[in-house]
Amino acid sequence: MIYPPPPQLKNKNLFQTKPFIHNEFINSNSTKTFKVINPATEEIIAELPEQTSEEIEHAIKLSYEAFQTFRRTSVHERSKMLRKLFNLIMENVDDLATLITLENGKSFADSKGEIVYGASYFEWFAEESKRNYGEVIQPTNPNNKIITLKQPVGVVGLLCPFNFPSAMATRKAAPAWAVGCTCVLKPDSQTPLSSLALAYLAKEAGFPPSVFNVVLASTESTPMVGKMICENSLIKKVSFTGSTAVGKLLMKQSSTSLKKLSMELGGNAPIIVFNDADLELAVTQSIASKFRSLGQTCVCANRIFVQSEIYDKFCEKFALAMKKFKIGNGLDEGVTHGCLINTKSIAKVEDQMKDALDKGAKILVEGGRLSNLGKNFYSPSALYDVPFDSKVFHEETFGPLAAIAKFEKRDEILDICNDTPYGLASYIFSESLNNVWYMSEFLESGMVSVNTGVFTDCSLPFGGVKESGFGREGSLHGMDDYTVVKSINLGNIYR
Ligand code: SIN
Repeated sequence: MIYPPPPQLKNKNLFQTKPFIHNEFINSNSTKTFKVINPATEEIIAELPEQTSEEIEHAIKLSYEAFQTFRRTSVHERSKMLRKLFNLIMENVDDLATLITLENGKSFADSKGEIVYGASYFEWFAEESKRNYGEVIQPTNPNNKIITLKQPVGVVGLLCPFNFPSAMATRKAAPAWAVGCTCVLKPDSQTPLSSLALAYLAKEAGFPPSVFNVVLASTESTPMVGKMICENSLIKKVSFTGSTAVGKLLMKQSSTSLKKLSMELGGNAPIIVFNDADLELAVTQSIASKFRSLGQTCVCANRIFVQSEIYDKFCEKFALAMKKFKIGNGLDEGVTHGCLINTKSIAKVEDQMKDALDKGAKILVEGGRLSNLGKNFYSPSALYDVPFDSKVFHEETFGPLAAIAKFEKRDEILDICNDTPYGLASYIFSESLNNVWYMSEFLESGMVSVNTGVFTDCSLPFGGVKESGFGREGSLHGMDDYTVVKSINLGNIYR
């Protein structure tokens, strides 16, 4: 069955439903297919081939061959392609955002924000690519000089999640191309259309064949394709964004060929609101952090801790702010929050909510399923007086449930915040430099956000510590993960 491009798209070329290999959308030999379903309407948007393992191996081989020439292109040529791709994305913002909302369910405003955010990585790395500097080192032998070069690691496997169908692909591909790597990308089976649209634009921007290959796999075959990518010795690095459990598995599989890895994994972000915080700001920004993409980001607030003097006022204002949410089809006018990708995260929210209520938490905002809108719709919930031993404080929610608790002392809450295997993001709201500095220094997380709930940016080194993973994406550090240092010792130079 062939599905027509969604009527909302102005540029119909952005709707692609075949694997993108060697700069062509190709037919697969596979007879198996998988469907992409709009989570808001439950309608089928597209039916895509589930590629065979031979096809995926072939795509990797082509990317390996392409690497041999792409690595030799001048950095200025690559910079121009990256800049052109940035421009092309910006010329197609509305269409690309529409695709995200159709396949992911988030509101159109959120999708537009994602496209602009994702595009900014191409602009950033178009510039940063020129600064992939090496060093000159003075060795102990005075007749020698040591020079280091940062060289592209090789073919990289990019394993991308559903929650940012475009921006996670761009955040990985932009630095990889900046340094001369080629990529084989596997999008999440629920949201592959944004990656295919990106592939179309990458070709338009002038990237040579097989610098970007997009392979397609269903949810069922994803573990097999992930394993193939991790075990294939032609791939020299894997960058994964997803759960900690899957990250650990991929790491094990990658050990067979000892690959370089970047792991952007789960989080359990605390928000700490001190008595001296700007209360209005703390409330609006906590809402922004908690309910961005309905809680489906790794950096969404998972635990909200508010100091005792402002606790009651914070809860009251938090509940009032949630009343302004308009839940609906993300493409409808005025909708602030769309739907979830599937019912799994609703079940998790319900489970964590029941557990917290059983332990003594109280309801601040009673949300719940919105079956009249569809099975993936859920009106966000909030709890207060949540006991510290509740599941919601120890497991990543990845859904629309806010859990709030009171604290008295700074050191007591610092210990509670750090009592988790995760360490991705933390948020602090305070007007005191001492509080801000102390918490920033001792919170065990890769990123700390002060007085803002939305902190990510192409210029920020994004990444975690502990079981939230390792590696940094974006910023001046973003290219390092795609390079290897070569040391050249120039001997006897003063002959
Ligand atoms: C993530 O959820 O991993 C990405 C969040 C962001 O880049 O803002």
